[in-house]
Amino acid sequence: MTHTFTIAIDGPAGAGKGTLARRLADHYRLNLLDTGLTYRAVAYALIQHALPLDNVSAAETAARQVDLAKLDRAVLSTHAVGEAASKVAVYPTVRRILVEKQRDFAKTPPGAVLDGRDIGTVVCPDADIKLYVTASAEVRAQRRLSEIESIGGTADFTEILADIVRRDERDMSRADSPLKPAADAHLLDTSEMAIEAAFLAAMAIIDDVLAKRDNA
Ligand code: C5P
Repeated sequence: MTHTFTIAIDGPAGAGKGTLARRLADHYRLNLLDTGLTYRAVAYALIQHALPLDNVSAAETAARQVDLAKLDRAVLSTHAVGEAASKVAVYPTVRRILVEKQRDFAKTPPGAVLDGRDIGTVVCPDADIKLYVTASAEVRAQRRLSEIESIGGTADFTEILADIVRRDERDMSRADSPLKPAADAHLLDTSEMAIEAAFLAAMAIIDDVLAKRDNA
């Protein structure tokens, strides 16, 4: 049997889990999947065909057509697509189709870092490491505002904060696979932590698990 290593990273939008996932995948030489992009790809397909986001059968068809090797971050990373993704993500049948693809990805040697909302709880409940990365809504809103301003844009802090709170609410309160830390997840609050510090903290947790395993 081939052993694969899985790192599951969950948390709300804007907590820094994407950057952390990328750094960890590089460092431990693992495959990387941002599962948010899979929900975004479904939402994007519906928007492209001018279909309503509550057309579940069209969303299922779009989910079946998602090709993990062809997820285009540049196209999918807009704020509007993120909002739409959180609407199609409430449908259990859509989730089931995407989760199956995500699990297959995780099983591919040498293993993977997956980040999302339900990785430690649903997609990879047996992950070797589970991290729950969070930060206060205000800090996440401020980070998003700085990001927008750094590329010459303008935005209103109060509106960004309201968006974040609404998205958290939708992701945490849905019936199927709500956002929540797995019972055995390590919590990482990045409110007062730069990404480098979060990376070092995550590495310490992972190296500790690896050392204990080697000594077992
Ligand atoms: O992480 P990202 O902002 O790209 O995710 C977009 C939306 O996709 C989230 O707000 C959430 O509703 C949904 N999602 C999910 N489960 C995942 C990843 C993302 O429901 N594993």
